[in-house]
Amino acid sequence: MGHLSEPLGSHMLRETTILPVFQPRELQPKWVSSGDQGEISMNLFDLNKVAQAMVATGRGLLAADESTGTIKKRFDAIKVESTEDSRRDYREMLFRSDALSKYISGVILYDETIWQKAKDGTALVKLIEQAGCIPGIKVDEGTQPLPNCPGELVTVGLDRLAGRLADYYKQGARFAKWRAVIDIGKDIPSMTAIHVNAHALARYAALCQAAQIVPIVEPEVLMDGDHDIDRCYDVTQRVLNKTFQELRVQRVALEGMILKPNMVISGKKSARQSPVAEVAEKTIRLLKSCVPAAVPGVAFLSGGQSDEDATAHLDAMNRIGGLPWKLTFSYGRALQAAPQKAWSGKAENVAAGQQAFAHRARMNSLASKGEWNAGLEQMRAA
Ligand code: 13P
Repeated sequence: MGHLSEPLGSHMLRETTILPVFQPRELQPKWVSSGDQGEISMNLFDLNKVAQAMVATGRGLLAADESTGTIKKRFDAIKVESTEDSRRDYREMLFRSDALSKYISGVILYDETIWQKAKDGTALVKLIEQAGCIPGIKVDEGTQPLPNCPGELVTVGLDRLAGRLADYYKQGARFAKWRAVIDIGKDIPSMTAIHVNAHALARYAALCQAAQIVPIVEPEVLMDGDHDIDRCYDVTQRVLNKTFQELRVQRVALEGMILKPNMVISGKKSARQSPVAEVAEKTIRLLKSCVPAAVPGVAFLSGGQSDEDATAHLDAMNRIGGLPWKLTFSYGRALQAAPQKAWSGKAENVAAGQQAFAHRARMNSLASKGEWNAGLEQMRAA
């Protein structure tokens, strides 16, 4: 095993002439590094610029990349039929909201949406760009059962990824997302599940950077079980350590990626739900021990937390301060549950839906600066 200051794979980063070690002095805008055969081309300066913009102060990401199956579940809950048009109408409502230009840095899209046009014929990607936001794309193809590991999953989608990334770049995507899912239960997660998922995350991240797309690396430890916060801490630590080990082995430039982790939190069915301060303190302690300072930003998933919990936890972490990376949100449910309910599929509710979205986006924007408090929840979005 590698020494702490000599992580596995670091020697490859030093020796390689293909991918650069990040050194600000050499980080010129036109610095394109390529192999002798021109097989890999990556401009780390531009990747880093996009990654920094994704975590710009007071901004975070909107995860609007629900697969067709997942958005159907969300629409079922508000009694809206999920069709190509209803999905388009809903997402158009979000992308035309003022909140995008004020509080959101980028939007993660699902494949269907990146090719879709608004009702007036404008590409949805254009609406996002016009709001000053960066379009991104979810590129994993979901999960499959992992052989020999009962109850565990592996995320798939690597086979044709290089070609798909080139198409998405042409369509405007400047960052991507791949989600690995690790469940906590009796005897799981196995080392096998952690290893194969970390390996796939790093394969994806390397392919993204070669395509000049910033990878969001999302190893999600689920909060569905009855485990306590310390079990979540231990499992998340194993997962993050393995993920960064694989990223190094595969020569991913940490300066050109964003980490999207779960918070360190009690399982939903645990009898002991930890207070906000404990979640914040343990999450920060863990991230400091596992996430290199070269990573520009950490953008959390909400993972089934209530809207207000997800905001309160982010705020408490940013109040601790003194962190080497930006800490912000990349929420799906915690940004969209309220607007979905307010909209409920009715054209006359579009303004109410946008207002509900703007409120949550503003609350999380404040939390990303450590400036939120519970009293602000009562006020409407400005
Ligand atoms: P949640 O915030 O609903 O967990 O979604 C974030 C996401 O992108 C999960 O992959």
